[in-house]
Amino acid sequence: MSNHANAGALPSDTLTATAGGALCGAMTLPGDKSISHRAIILGALAEGETTVHHLLEGEDVLRTVAAFRAMGVGIERDSAGIYRIQGVGLDGLAEPDDVLDMGNSGTAMRLLAGVLASQPFFSILTGDASLRRRPMGRIITPLSQMGARILSRAQGKAPLVIQGTELMPVEYLSPVASAQVKSAVLLAALNTAGGSSVREPELSRDHTERMLTAFGARVERDGLQVTVEGWPTLTGQVVQVPGDISSAAFPLVAALLVPGSDVTLHGVGVNPTRTGLLELLTAMGGRIEWLNQREQGGEPVADLRVRYSALRGIVVPPEVIPRAIDEFPIFFVAAALAEGETVLTGAAELRVKESDRIQAMAAGLRALGAFVTELADGVRIVGRPEGLAGGVRVDSFTDHRVAMSLLVAGLRCRAAVTVARCANIQTSFPGFREQMVGLGAHIQ
Ligand code: S3P
Repeated sequence: MSNHANAGALPSDTLTATAGGALCGAMTLPGDKSISHRAIILGALAEGETTVHHLLEGEDVLRTVAAFRAMGVGIERDSAGIYRIQGVGLDGLAEPDDVLDMGNSGTAMRLLAGVLASQPFFSILTGDASLRRRPMGRIITPLSQMGARILSRAQGKAPLVIQGTELMPVEYLSPVASAQVKSAVLLAALNTAGGSSVREPELSRDHTERMLTAFGARVERDGLQVTVEGWPTLTGQVVQVPGDISSAAFPLVAALLVPGSDVTLHGVGVNPTRTGLLELLTAMGGRIEWLNQREQGGEPVADLRVRYSALRGIVVPPEVIPRAIDEFPIFFVAAALAEGETVLTGAAELRVKESDRIQAMAAGLRALGAFVTELADGVRIVGRPEGLAGGVRVDSFTDHRVAMSLLVAGLRCRAAVTVARCANIQTSFPGFREQMVGLGAHIQ
């Protein structure tokens, strides 16, 4: 998505960060990406109208919007930015007459595969070069156990070809704590007679379960197992999407790291399955105050006041990993500027995100002068609280979170840091540069 009306004036793919004064002021975060995808999906599958306020208008979510429009669902945006979805029910989707392109979005591809597996038509899901490298076997396996007919390239890579069919319920024991795997099964289960369950090794984000309950589905949780009954009547809802904590992470860590900073982040979703980064940074000595805690449409929300803090390295407790899974790139930046050593292990999942985030962040931070040792399933970082050297050009590997993390690191480097291939910041945080500049950061 581009705000530039003038074709030819495409946003630059390269951004440069330079150290400057303290970051001060307030920011309202764009809508949560995970919740935005789910609002579109459940709105489309419900009966009646669903209204979505503060939908994330990033490229990933707009791919989900486009896919449902291609299957005959009416989705309109009004001039105030509110999305109205005319739900077609569990059996009302139409066969798309072309391939569905999910762009950079793993969530869109994996959740849509769950929906499409039980629809009585043919569909093909593809994506960009990054998404076509990511593992889809993890959803093909449980969906196939339900009777789904899904073909892929070698090693379960997209494009995926789905011949939708009637499915059987499953009791799936997932080897990974993945909300995308869990959600693919639960969404397939909606259009399947009987109850289907997923048990995961650690609790992953639970937005699907919360939103299914709000739309009227029968969802039962028993520890790490969740069960959904098939063929519920889903009723259109008003969904208020909270601010994305995964986007808040960038100004938040920037404020902790830049001396004198005092920043308030308004309306951040603080679902306990997502707040691992706050736990880690607080344990490192970060001053993060939770203000005005409230509930918004079944999800907890707070304003977060963050002040510059002297951070100390920590050993990351393994149980926190699923709750902080998207925040490790920016967490590594905090560790690289903390006093002492930080160690993360047990996080091999980071290697199959939008990029290999262990390798991408180790390469980027080392180029800036940080002490980083890459481990098979994590990193060891010895912090340099005095700041990093910078003065180099580094690569984001087209990963939005790597790009934003290295730009934040640049705010604590002695010489400017240029990050190549930043266009995918649009997938999750449109307006990132402008909002950071609004706090006083030098990023251009
Ligand atoms: C997401 C789940 C996580 C996360 C991703 C969004 C979701 O992925 O990394 O950014 O919305 O369900 P996994 O399920 O692969 O852990």
